[in-house]
Amino acid sequence: MSALTVEIEAAGYGPATVLRDVRFEVPDGGRLVVLGANGAGKTTVLRTISGLCDAVGSVRLGETELLGLPPYRVAGAGIAHVPQGRGTFGDLTVRENLLVGGATRPRREAVAAADRWMERFPRLGERSGRPASGLSGGEQQLLAIARAFMSAPRMLLLDEPSLGLAPKITTDLFATLDELGRETGTAMLLVEQNAEVALGIAEDAVVISSGRITVRGRADELRDNDDVRRAYLGV
Ligand SMILES: Nc1ncnc2c1ncn2[C@@H]1O[C@H](COP(=O)(O)OP(=O)(O)O)[C@@H](O)[C@H]1O
Ligand SMILES: [Mg+2]
Repeated sequence: MSALTVEIEAAGYGPATVLRDVRFEVPDGGRLVVLGANGAGKTTVLRTISGLCDAVGSVRLGETELLGLPPYRVAGAGIAHVPQGRGTFGDLTVRENLLVGGATRPRREAVAAADRWMERFPRLGERSGRPASGLSGGEQQLLAIARAFMSAPRMLLLDEPSLGLAPKITTDLFATLDELGRETGTAMLLVEQNAEVALGIAEDAVVISSGRITVRGRADELRDNDDVRRAYLGV
């Protein structure tokens, strides 16, 4: 069964239409990568799913129609969104950031889950009481991802998680995402500029150009596609 069915006829910001005819599905537990140049509309796809854009069409999580719901209800339906730039709260401690992610769960359950995540990622645990602003880029991205998992989502939206990270940190981060996805069965929609690592952990991919899907296929096919290689793999 599809976790997420996206059938966007048009979407954008008020009178500015950015996306046209963007359609794809992500199966339960599956992973789809969205590639595309700067300004192509990748972030707008994720923001439309999260209820942050004006849109016509349908976006469903399982049977539930999400278009028209306010963002907190989209989150409540089972979507966790790690925005571009991570969206952690710098003034809050690491632990408080995690608890924000678990705000829809009973307090005791959220506290226990936060403890589990800090055990899972000792670098977060060691900094539990410190402001998130003091973390390195890689640690902040880990915190943003752990915070997203705090809501036990069915579907995780990730907007350029590798942005600003060194290559080794990026490789580690994607290995962690791969592991977490396997353990939890959470489906992922991944927007990335780093096509090589992203295609490496996904089954399917689409390329967006000027707000439309121009290429779609299996991730390994796209890795071998000459146009994709030239544009996104730098070879
Ligand atoms: N808040 C906004 N209001 C109006 N236009 C926007 C807004 N945010 C982005 N856009 C426009 O939408 C287009 C796609 O942006 P975006 O989805 O951020 O692209 P990408 O994530 O692929 O770099 C760009 O032309 C951008 O200028
Ligand atoms: Mg973007």
